[in-house]
Amino acid sequence: MRRDAWWVQPLLTFLGLSAFIGYSTWRAFMGQDFLAIQDGTNYLSPFFSPILYFHPNLSWVTDEVRNAMHDHAWLGTMPAWAPLWVSPSFLILWAPAGFRFTCYYYRGAYYKAFWGDPPNCSVGEPRDSYRGEQRFPLIFQNIHRYFFYVAAVFIFILAYDAFLGIQFSTDSSGKALAAGETQFGLGIGSLVLWGNVIFLGGYTFGCHSFRHLIGGGINLLSKTPIRSKCYECVGCLNSRHMLFAWCSLFWVGFTDAYVWMCANGTWTDYRIF
Ligand code: FES
Repeated sequence: MRRDAWWVQPLLTFLGLSAFIGYSTWRAFMGQDFLAIQDGTNYLSPFFSPILYFHPNLSWVTDEVRNAMHDHAWLGTMPAWAPLWVSPSFLILWAPAGFRFTCYYYRGAYYKAFWGDPPNCSVGEPRDSYRGEQRFPLIFQNIHRYFFYVAAVFIFILAYDAFLGIQFSTDSSGKALAAGETQFGLGIGSLVLWGNVIFLGGYTFGCHSFRHLIGGGINLLSKTPIRSKCYECVGCLNSRHMLFAWCSLFWVGFTDAYVWMCANGTWTDYRIF
C-alpha cells in the first residue's frame, strides 16, 4: 500500500553494489598496476594491501616497481607453482569483503535489493513467516563481530600505506635526495590515500559490533566516563553508518582507480609540495 517510489532505494543499492562487486572482482583478476611510483614516492592500491606475496616477473613489473613491492611484501615472492592470476588481492580481499557482506547495514540493504526479502520496509513479501537469522545459512552472519577485529587491523595497515605515500625520495623540485633519505611531501595521491583511510575508518569504527564492544555491555555509563566518551564518539559515527558505508565503498574503488591510472601512465600525480 505504499504509494511513494519505494523501489528506488533498493534499485540504487542493487546497481551500486553490483558495480562495486564487478569492478573489484575484475581488478583482482587483472592483478596489475596496483602500485604507482610517482615522483619519489609510491601509492599502493587498497585492493591489494597488504601485499603478502607477489609475482616478481610479470610484464608490467619494472625494476622500480619490483623494489617497491619488495618493501611492501610481508612474505616475499609467490612460490613458483602459484598461478599467475593469483594476485595479492586474492589473499586478502576475503577480510574486507566478509566484513562488508555481514555488516548490519548492508544486510538490511541487500536483503531488500537482491532478494526482495522484503522489497522495502512496509512492502509485502510473498510469504508470511519470518525466519530471521537464527538458522542455517543466515546464522553465519553473526560472524560479523569477529570480522570487525580483522577489519580494524586493515585500517592501520592502510594508514601505514598512506604514511608511505607522504614520504618522498625527491625534494619538491624533483631533485633526488641522498640514498635512503626521504622528506615529507604531499601529492594528490597522498590525499586520495588518506581520504580512503578516513572514510574506511569512519565506517569501521562506527560498526554496531564495535559500539557494543566499547560500551554496549555497561549498565551505567555515567560510572565510566572515559568509556562513556568513547561510546559517544562511536555512537556519533554509528548514526552515520550508512553514509560512511557508501562513501567508503565509493572512495576505496576510486583510490584503486586513481592508483591504476597513475601506474599505467594515463594520469600524472600532481605534487602539492
Ligand atoms: S555493522 Fe556495519 S560494519 Fe559492523
